[in-house]
Order: sequence, then C-alpha cells, then structure tokens
Amino acid sequence: MKRISALAVTLAAVAMLAGCGEKTADIDGARIAAADKNAGEWVTHGRTYGEQRFSPLDKVNVASAGQLGLSWSFDLPEDRGVEATPLVADGVMYTTSSWSIVRAFDAKTGKLLWEFDPQVPRKTGVKACCDSVNRGVALWEGRVYVGALDGRLIALDAKTGKQVWSTVTVDQSKPYTITGAPRVIKGKVLIGNGGAEFGVRGYLSAYDARNGKMLWRFYTVPGEQTTDGAASDAAMKIARPTWNGEFWKVGGGGTVWDSMAYDPDLDLLYIGVGNGTPWNRDIRSPGGGDNLFLSSVVALKPDTGAYVWHYQTTPGESWDYTATQHIILADLTIAGKPVKALMQAPKNGFFYVIDRTNGKLISANNYVPVSWATGIDPASGRPVETPNARYGSGPALAMPGPLGGHNWQPMAFSPKTGLVYIPAQEIPFPYMQPGGANANFRYEPGAWNIGVDSLIAAMPDDQAGIKAVRASLKGRLIAWDPLTQTEKWSVKHSGPWNGGVLATAGGLVFQGSATGELAAYDAATGKKVWSFDAQTGIVAPPISYEIDGEQYIAVMAGWGGGFALTIGAGADPRSDGPRRVLVFKLGGKSKLPARPVSTRDFPALPAVTGSPAQIAAGKTTFATYCGVCHGSSAVSDFSIPDLRYSPVITDAAVFKGVVIDGDRVENGMVSFSRFIDAAKAEAVRQYLLSLAHGERDRLAAAKPRK
Ligand code: HEC
Repeated sequence: MKRISALAVTLAAVAMLAGCGEKTADIDGARIAAADKNAGEWVTHGRTYGEQRFSPLDKVNVASAGQLGLSWSFDLPEDRGVEATPLVADGVMYTTSSWSIVRAFDAKTGKLLWEFDPQVPRKTGVKACCDSVNRGVALWEGRVYVGALDGRLIALDAKTGKQVWSTVTVDQSKPYTITGAPRVIKGKVLIGNGGAEFGVRGYLSAYDARNGKMLWRFYTVPGEQTTDGAASDAAMKIARPTWNGEFWKVGGGGTVWDSMAYDPDLDLLYIGVGNGTPWNRDIRSPGGGDNLFLSSVVALKPDTGAYVWHYQTTPGESWDYTATQHIILADLTIAGKPVKALMQAPKNGFFYVIDRTNGKLISANNYVPVSWATGIDPASGRPVETPNARYGSGPALAMPGPLGGHNWQPMAFSPKTGLVYIPAQEIPFPYMQPGGANANFRYEPGAWNIGVDSLIAAMPDDQAGIKAVRASLKGRLIAWDPLTQTEKWSVKHSGPWNGGVLATAGGLVFQGSATGELAAYDAATGKKVWSFDAQTGIVAPPISYEIDGEQYIAVMAGWGGGFALTIGAGADPRSDGPRRVLVFKLGGKSKLPARPVSTRDFPALPAVTGSPAQIAAGKTTFATYCGVCHGSSAVSDFSIPDLRYSPVITDAAVFKGVVIDGDRVENGMVSFSRFIDAAKAEAVRQYLLSLAHGERDRLAAAKPRK
C-alpha cells in the first residue's frame, strides 16, 4: 500500500507534464480497417477487426531474432494477474493491469505518461471467478475506453488520462464483473461482462462513444419475461423453447466476457458466448434442451444489435465449455473455393472453421484429446457425445475440464503460413452430480453456483496425489492447419496456462510461458530461435509495433488468472515473480532489475485441536467457498495468501475477524458470514492447521535442518 501512495505522488507530477504532447490516438473505423497498411500500429485488441493477431512487420525475423534484447521495462506495483493486450498508436502505448488500472507510456522510451486508477472497490474481487484481471482498452477518436471490474465503462482523454465519462453497464447488486477489452465499431463502444459461475444473465451492450449513452443491448439467454424491449427480443423467440424450468432465477449464464470480431464488408459483429449457470444442465434446465445461446458464436448487426445467425459449439453445455475463446476471421481457400471463414478453438477441445456469412459449419476436429464427444457431425454441426459424458450415471473424468483445451489466451493466424497458433492445454476434471455435503443444489447468491461436486474435484492433499495430478497437466503451443484440421507442429511446455500468441511477417511466433520464458519460434517449423527469462510467469499475448524504423515486441508479464488462483499445486514455482511491461527490439541493451527472492516460513503453529469430523467438515467448506482463490486443497499460487503459511490461522479470534467480520475487506478478502458461521470458520481453521502441520513436517523431513 505504501508503495502505491509514493508512486501516486510521482504520477501526479508526470501527469501534468504529459498533457502538452500532440499525441492524439485519433483512431476511427477507417484507421482500424486500414490497420494492415499501418503496419507499425496496434490500434484494436486483435490488431485488426478480424483479430488475427498477425503483425505485418518483418525486421525482426527468423534470421535476426537472435539479436533481440530488452529495450525498456516497467515494473507494475499491482500484484495480481495481468492479461492485457497493449495498444499502440501515435507512439503511445496504452495498457491495463489488475484492478482495471490504465497506463500510457511513450512506446519508444518507456516513459510513463499518465496513469488512471478507477478505484475499483477491492471487495469486487469476490465476484470475479478468475482473478481481478483486465484484458485491455479500446481507442477511438482521441479517447481510451476501459471496462472496470465493477461494471463501469469509462472513457478517458487519450492525452491526459482524465475521465471524460463513466457509465455503469451492469446491476451492481448482482455478481457481474468486466475483465474483457471493449471494441469500437462505427462510434459504438461494445462491452460484455462475466459472472456466470455466480449467477447472472449474459449480454452485450453498445454505448455511444461520445457520451456513454446506451444504444442497444443483446441478451444471450432468455429471461423470465418473453420480451425485454431489447435488441435480442426476436432472437429470444428462438432461444426460449430450448430451455426448461425456472432457469432465469439464477440468470442462466451466457456471459460475453471476452471475444468479439468484426467484418466491415459483411457488416457483421461476432461475439463468443459463455457457459451456463450452473454448469450442470440437469439442474439448470431440467429435462434438457440446447439452452441457446450458451456456448455459441452469434453474429449481430452492429448498428442495432439485431440477430443474424448463431452456431452453438456445445448444445446443452454441462461442463463450463464457453465459446468465449478468441475468434479469428480469415479468407481461406478451401477445395479451390474462396471461403470467408471464422475460426475458433473453444474450451470444448474442437477447432471450428465456420462460414462467417451464414454460420454454417465447414469443418471441425479436436485439437487436444477430447473425452466428452467422439467428433462433430458434419451434417448437423452437432457433437456426437460419448456415454455418460453428462455424468448422469456416475462421475466422469473428462478432457477438457472447465479450464478448457484453450482458454482466453488469444491464438494467432499467419496468412503467410496459413496456420493458426493455439496456446493449448490439457487439464482434466472429474465431473460429478453434487453429492454428500454438496447434495441438493440450492442457489446461493454471491457464491459459486456451478452445480457439480466440488469436493471430488479438489486437488489431492498428499504429495503422491499432487505429483500425479501435476503430471497429468499439460501445455503446448500447437501450429494448426485449418484446411486439413491437423496439427503441423507443436512445442511442449512444462505445464498448462501459458501465454497468448503473436504471429509476424518475419516468420515468427511469439509466446510467453508459465515458467517465465518469452520465446520466438520459427512459424514454419516450431524451432525456437530466441528466448528471454522474464523472471515471472506470462499469460498475456505479445504484440508488435514500429517507431522510427525500429520494430518492437511487447508483452505484459506476470502470473494470474483462473488456473493460477485455483490450482496452485499445479503451478510451477518459476511462475512466481513481479508484474511488468517488457519491450524488446533488435540490439536492445536494457537489463531487468535483479530477480526478487521469495521466501516464506511457517508461523509458530499451535496444536490441532479439531476432531477428524471437524477437520473433514472444514475441508468441505474450504472446497466450496475458499479454494477458488486460495487454491484447491489450500495450495495457493503466489498472488493470494497460501493459508498454510498464514499467521492468521494460528489465532481463532483473528481468523474469525478476517473470515466472518470482514477485517480485510479493503484488501479483497470479504466477509463470508453470508455463507458460513463462526463454527464453520473454526472448522476451516482446524483443517488449515492440520494441512500446515503436515506440510511443515514433510518439508522438514525432506530437508533436515543443520
Ligand atoms: C475472491 C477471492 C477470495 C476468496 C473466495 C476467499 N479469499 Fe481469503 N483472501 C483473499 C485475498 C485477496 C486475501 C488477501 C487480503 C490481504 O492482502 O490482506 C485473503 C486473505 C485471507 C486471509 C488472511 C491471510 C493472511 O495471511 O493475511 C484468510 C485467513 C483468508 N483469506 C481466509 C479465507 C477463507 C477461510 C475463505 C473461505 C471461507 C476465503 N478466504 C475465501 C481472497 C479470497
């Protein structure tokens, strides 16, 4: 906290100086549409409206990449996940950090020009399934647009970082959050939201870039009423018959939390729609149904939000198989015919090539091992499910799991190689109808409402079990041929949850890894031609830009996000490190600050006084309410306290103060008194103490003290 206020003073001074430049970020649709001619810029999230994440720059290439060196870096004071794609226009880089904080840098020198902190109340963190992250800003006519975690859409003056307008896009009494980057089409700022794990109804809204006035809203799933007076009314007539029961009470889900793409010629906006609330369809929509438009790509008219077509990747989704993953538009030649294609590798493990004029499936094949379906039927475009895929007759260990064969980390398409580069992963998950202590699902406002058993999904808490799970977690960079639907080459990483991808005309593919290595690969062969140790796990995608004839590669480095918080036991210790902006160029000579040493010790642990039954009850409560942030089975990653090492667990009153009375709410740890009472909190504490003792004894036995 102290660090931040010291920084704020310097920033105030810097901000005063920054206002006098003539840098304007005067972006409009024509400039975004012409992005391929302005190769030196990166003016919208996926660089172009088609979101290919391909840079036409080629000075950094297979031959020269070896000379890449650090040009500048900036260490961020925030210590949570960074997932942003920086934008670069008129020599200025605009990027975001956790808690939706925006910064502008001189993209050549790294000088901080301004900072905007929307002061997101830290208690909002409890509504964010997957960390307090932000994936970046949009630029339009001299303004910078950011979606804040608490649901505000904010317009800033690109020169000064001063707020121009702010509008609340969600019902803030509900568990909505914004982590995605806005896009701007024809003066309309488009923004969705997240929250489907908790219970919300998903939608996308369009706001007037000039004044923040809402122009239209498209709901992705039906509500209780047959009409909302919204742009989606006609589409809901198609969707409503595919649902059963009183799903609207929990919202239904279907949040538009990340991907969008736009085809200016067809004038179609494509959005990726998320999972259902709860995940389990048996509970969400008793009696079945496809539950449109969950897990679908939907095409809309950007002027009105009117529905044009949809393609549902996972009908009746029951696994958290969102279709919010990165959407890429490309013009391909298939069987000698030109095809306006839309490509997506959603969580469910299949790679789809869709005709973006009409939503018809062209082809699909699995890009990672898949257990829930044997394939996609080309005639109907529907998956062929395997027996018990829906875990109705007992637990099903499924691949992919809810973290997906591919998550939000963007892929990239190179028109030069014709390949799509997918940051793929293998993270299995045991799906089971809620049982035991979780039986009889009932909606708990504000808690995770996923409708599957959370206890069997918990990480094992013995070393052999953790080792076995770790060995089953995999990550690869896959070069995928969308014409043949086959893998051309792949690079194996040490585990899952690696960075998004950039492809360049220099014949390179850039990707960061969970272990902190930013690497350049030969786009044709996958051979590694350069790498850099960022000293911190990288999940965000790199970008490229050019200033004064020099090509730069930039990436937001720093660990975080859904996998990081939940599966600490599966993370690599090398992921732990600072959060920073890294910028490279040929011959760059800058150096990183010395690698920080992280040490942690156990506090003096009192004896465990809880009975085995109390400890077991504590384990269930922990798996239900705490593991999503503090790590499954209380092995956390490196950004939210690992409670086995926390002095707070050594004192019942202090623990109750944090967990029940909300003593740390300003730091993002809310009171859980809505869900658990003091006795349950004490059971959790006994469980944590027992784990702490076990871990301390294990480490002591493994490494005897001198
Ligand atoms: C939404 C994420 C989230 C969830 C869910 C969550 N916590 Fe926390 N918790 C945090 C954060 C962030 C902190 C760090 C606060 C700080 O820096 O003081 C924290 C801190 C704590 C601390 C203090 C640790 C220390 O050493 O300072 C305790 C104890 C704790 N949490 C217990 C729990 C328990 C028990 C549950 C479940 C009932 C829970 N938390 C659920 C985010 C969460």
